[in-house]
Amino acid sequence: MTIFNVPLDELRTRGTIKWQRFEPDVLPMFVAEMDAHIAAPVRERLERALRESDTGYPQLPVYQEAYADFSAHEWDWHFDPADAMLVADVVSGMREAVLTFSEPGDKVLINPPVYPPFGIAGHAGESREVVSIPLTEGGRLDLPAMEQAFAEHRPAVYLLCSPHNPTGAVHTVDELRAVADMADTYGVTVVVNEIHAPITGPKHTPYLKANPDAQALIITSASKSWNLAAIKAALIIGPAELRRQFPPMVSDAASYFGILAHTAALLEGRDWLRQASREVAENKAFFAEELHRQIPQLSYTPSEGTYLAWVDCSPLGLELPGRDFHDVGRVRFSFGQEFGPDSVQFVRVNLASSREIITEGIRRMAKTLVS
Ligand SMILES: Cc1ncc(COP(=O)(O)O)c(C=O)c1O
Repeated sequence: MTIFNVPLDELRTRGTIKWQRFEPDVLPMFVAEMDAHIAAPVRERLERALRESDTGYPQLPVYQEAYADFSAHEWDWHFDPADAMLVADVVSGMREAVLTFSEPGDKVLINPPVYPPFGIAGHAGESREVVSIPLTEGGRLDLPAMEQAFAEHRPAVYLLCSPHNPTGAVHTVDELRAVADMADTYGVTVVVNEIHAPITGPKHTPYLKANPDAQALIITSASKSWNLAAIKAALIIGPAELRRQFPPMVSDAASYFGILAHTAALLEGRDWLRQASREVAENKAFFAEELHRQIPQLSYTPSEGTYLAWVDCSPLGLELPGRDFHDVGRVRFSFGQEFGPDSVQFVRVNLASSREIITEGIRRMAKTLVS
């Protein structure tokens, strides 16, 4: 079984952002959608529900139980499914968490470069002030700078991305414990986005495994790891004192089909996930080699987490590399500046693709440079 081998002609018939946002001659390697067919158990579960007209509202906590089962199996992390609640998707869970655990005028700490919706507090018109403590040059959490910011700014909420999008960094147990110590000292609610955890596999440590007594919430979903963004459902996991503060209707927005699909993925899509994970690791190694071969000025060191590559293009001396790759080479990556103001020279490359697409993407980068 090869997962990332869907032909380009077929991919171009998809109606999603990746395949419809830009001109048809642009090769899209930006938004985090996979060039894969979904896992058979997921498709079969949805087909069965449609066949049986099982199309009403959800009742049973099957998604909560499936994530607990997966977590026990993958990370030896044992949580009570009753400590998980549904939410429509991870981004709305983050937004609800910011609204619930901060007041207008409060501060929310983030670590750029980071997935753009982490800036939610600032740009959603909710009057929260974003405090940015960038990752270190080496892409780690800058713990001393964070401690200083916790002390000085007293943020109400810290939004942690674990594993980190876009860099693919997997935070260590020591780092996660240091964060929890600081949050405890300064009374900060930690909200941890673990959406990229399943495909990252055993290298990942759930925040609440590293810190079982933390006043913190994990927001997660099967959507990134099994490419199910269209079929919405996600989970917020954490202590009752925090969960009960959310408005009651937050959970009603998760769709029954999302719950069915994500549950099937977590319980029966593990072979698919293992294979996808293996192919991502191989694609990262291939990308590193091929990038350096075609564009010797650039280098990429495979990251531990996610299926995304964060590439520093500053050796090319371009003003806006992502824009040039799009306009000239006709390949679209996510632009670095979407993730933080200091990342203009970076692009984020989606490697959940075939070797052909990855090779062609690099060829188009190289072509940009000679045009
Ligand atoms: C870190 C992170 N969080 C959230 C999302 C989106 O999740 P959802 O579709 O569940 O809102 C993505 C999508 O790429 C992501 O990378």
